[in-house]
Amino acid sequence: MTTAIQLAGVQKRYGATRALDGVSFDVRRGEMFGLIGSDGAGKTTAIRLMCGLIRADAGQVRVLGRDPVREHRHVTERVGYLSQRFSLYGDLTVDENVAFFAEVHGVRDYHRRRNQLLEMTQLAPFRARLADRLSGGMKQKLALVCTLVHQPELLLLDEPTTGVDPVSRREFWKLLSEFLSQGITIVMSTPYLDEAERCTRVALLHEGRLLASDDPSRLRAAAEGTPSLEDVFINLLAKQVAS
Ligand SMILES: Nc1ncnc2c1ncn2[C@@H]1O[C@H](COP(=O)(O)OP(=O)(O)OP(=O)(O)O)[C@@H](O)[C@H]1O
Ligand SMILES: [Mg+2]
Repeated sequence: MTTAIQLAGVQKRYGATRALDGVSFDVRRGEMFGLIGSDGAGKTTAIRLMCGLIRADAGQVRVLGRDPVREHRHVTERVGYLSQRFSLYGDLTVDENVAFFAEVHGVRDYHRRRNQLLEMTQLAPFRARLADRLSGGMKQKLALVCTLVHQPELLLLDEPTTGVDPVSRREFWKLLSEFLSQGITIVMSTPYLDEAERCTRVALLHEGRLLASDDPSRLRAAAEGTPSLEDVFINLLAKQVAS
């Protein structure tokens, strides 16, 4: 199976707000897929649907071939989810935070995996430190470790780099590349277009509508004379407003 996630004609409303309005796109296995859009675009809604935390009003969502609401357990065992307002337990140490998330996922034998992940993220020297006393970038890396402790095939990351300093952002991306090379599929949402450029494919969202979904270089090539992805996005928005 080469498709990791499928959204087909997905609609989700909150009262009068159309959080997602007929959105369709696929995420392929092994890719780094970006959900790109500004505030209120529908990024979190899309990710929550993929996790099976909410149900679509219409359309279909499939994750690793399953319905994430009906087959919630099957999906959550294979998915690592980092929510937008993810919070670590500040009064627990680095080690204890990872242990907590391992236990939530029912992973008993997590010590080797924890050591490996802490080494990889260069958090090993800080394992006895309280999470509250870590820097912002270190907290984000620890959050990533917590989502990976049950060895998921698919990572769903909701704005993991928002508010993170540029150096830590670069480090975070390096880690993501390593996980990709291990065969993990990654979907991440971001408002940053420079991050969109680094994805294999992206979905550009605005106010619940899908403006485009493709490889960033193909999106740039299709919009003649528009060199940056930011221009592509703005042009697509202008077209939508005009139509
Ligand atoms: N639980 C909810 N109740 C009411 N409205 C909601 C709810 N969740 C989302 N919305 C609305 O749906 C729209 C899409 O929200 P969503 O959180 O998916 O956007 P987003 O792209 O993640 O935005 P942000 O960049 O601010 O995180 C917004 O207009 C939002 O106000
Ligand atoms: Mg959001």
